[in-house]
Amino acid sequence: MTAEKRWHASSASLVLIASLLLSPAALADARRQTPSHPPGAAIASAHALATEAGMQMLREGGNAFDAAVATSAALSVVEPISSGLGGGGFFLLHDAKTGKDVFVDARETAPAAATPAEYLLENGEFNRDRAENGPWSAGIPGLPAAFVHLADKYGKLPLKTTLAPAIKLAREGFPIYARLVRGYASRRAVMERYPGTRAVFLASGAPLKEGEIFKQPDLANTLETLAAKGFDGFYRGDIADKLLAGVKAEGGRWTAQELAGYRVREREPVSVEYRGWRIVTAPPPSSGGIALAEMLQILEGWDLSKLDPAHRIHLVVESMRRAFRDRTFYLGDPDFVKIPAATLTSPGYAAGLRATIHPQKATPSDLLSGEETPLEDDETTHFSIIDADGNRVAATQTVNLTFGSGLIPPGTGVLLNDEMDDFALKPGTPNAFGVMGYDANAPKPGKRMLSSMTPTFMESPDRVAVLGTPGGSRIITMVLLGVLGYDAGLDAQAVAALPRYHHQWMPDRIQAETGAIAPQVAAELKAMGHGLDLPADEAAGGRGSSHVWGNLQTVLWDRKAGTLSTGSDPRNPVGRGEVMRMGTAAAK
Ligand code: GLY
Repeated sequence: MTAEKRWHASSASLVLIASLLLSPAALADARRQTPSHPPGAAIASAHALATEAGMQMLREGGNAFDAAVATSAALSVVEPISSGLGGGGFFLLHDAKTGKDVFVDARETAPAAATPAEYLLENGEFNRDRAENGPWSAGIPGLPAAFVHLADKYGKLPLKTTLAPAIKLAREGFPIYARLVRGYASRRAVMERYPGTRAVFLASGAPLKEGEIFKQPDLANTLETLAAKGFDGFYRGDIADKLLAGVKAEGGRWTAQELAGYRVREREPVSVEYRGWRIVTAPPPSSGGIALAEMLQILEGWDLSKLDPAHRIHLVVESMRRAFRDRTFYLGDPDFVKIPAATLTSPGYAAGLRATIHPQKATPSDLLSGEETPLEDDETTHFSIIDADGNRVAATQTVNLTFGSGLIPPGTGVLLNDEMDDFALKPGTPNAFGVMGYDANAPKPGKRMLSSMTPTFMESPDRVAVLGTPGGSRIITMVLLGVLGYDAGLDAQAVAALPRYHHQWMPDRIQAETGAIAPQVAAELKAMGHGLDLPADEAAGGRGSSHVWGNLQTVLWDRKAGTLSTGSDPRNPVGRGEVMRMGTAAAK
């Protein structure tokens, strides 16, 4: 064994410090002494019209959970590229009255017909088209059931009220924006395969054009039926019949029982203490919360603020490398597989991993056994809410790839997801993003596919933040950077704007947005042994990142200062945060 390998293998050679932690008792004490009500309410989402839909509910006497239904439904209408009634999502809730956090899992489920054999070509090769496009790529949708669940159990307003803004947006239309046009162009060949999709996206005879008004009358009718009849309005009866017929007409096999049998699940969130913060985040079937907890507990051993940028990025990257190595093997739907969550999120496990990190040198990823999980990037959306009672919602929802499966069953307006590709459909074969998976994430009837979505709360005696973002596997590292940003004292907008870098064990390279790593810092990281893919390296043959990542939406309640603020990702010009004080809304 070389000296280098001995260093990485030794867990006794580093004694690391966790001196800035408040004890849990001191944290609880401090929480009791701080005000329990924010000075108003705040919402940040990826589209101004969706933020306004949520704000409208708050003005009409609703709470954060009503606002969440309205914002989520409006995003389904104005951002069909990212999420919708035909997809799923995760809603992390904080109920101020009980003090409880709960995770509402509205992830799609696998139809029984979707066995791994159905995704193989005759020659045994993986049938990527089936996994990503059309009826076989779609799981049973979860988002409509989430609306019903939130309204019944947590909201104050009926669905007729909370879905009204989305119904209006679908019926009267909204202005088409540039990202929608670009997204359509990239998926056009698939979307134009299906008559139901053509009827919506080519209703005027031509593809979407920026600035024109996009109306979705069938989607308005479906939302109205859901508002009037609740769960049965979508999962049974006329809409369900049309969904089943549309899937069947394109060669898919869903059953009426699968639709009627869909249920959201309430789960215990993952929670972890980090430097005086309590972080509450997504449990399986998301991989995000466990990976986030693992990274934070590794990083707990250093005061990152005392390090120069190169050493700070080095240690953060080493934590990412180790968490992503674990991600492939153990995670899946907790209703189907036993997940060693307590071990993976324990301080002792993190201490063992931390001890394998050399303070000056990159650990070559091939020294850590595991399986490759290359980059993911996808369409998804996130919104964050705090209301005047202190209720909170962090919600991330998706149809997976841009415009999901591309299939709208005729007469429904419902664009189906292509979430089946998030399963390990052929173990050992990468999905659309090159992500591989194993038995824990193999499809089974009714099983939920593994996700990276990481809606998250952070709470310290002084500050409460809600955050999340789209971005495939980069979601997890973007949320990590957001958490570290808040811990470093940044405000909400600065957290949303933070330059991003990412490492996911394999490929063994740091990926970064333009400007995220200064040339001098990049040189120091290279000297430590890190591989870098920087945009500036493209000319020199590096893969780099030709685009920016994510769309982080966050709200912050500064309890000490008595202020609320929002951060809406500047990478997305149609996103918006709003703060409402004493009944007035102020855009931020
Ligand atoms: N489909 C993306 C995710 O759930 O992570």
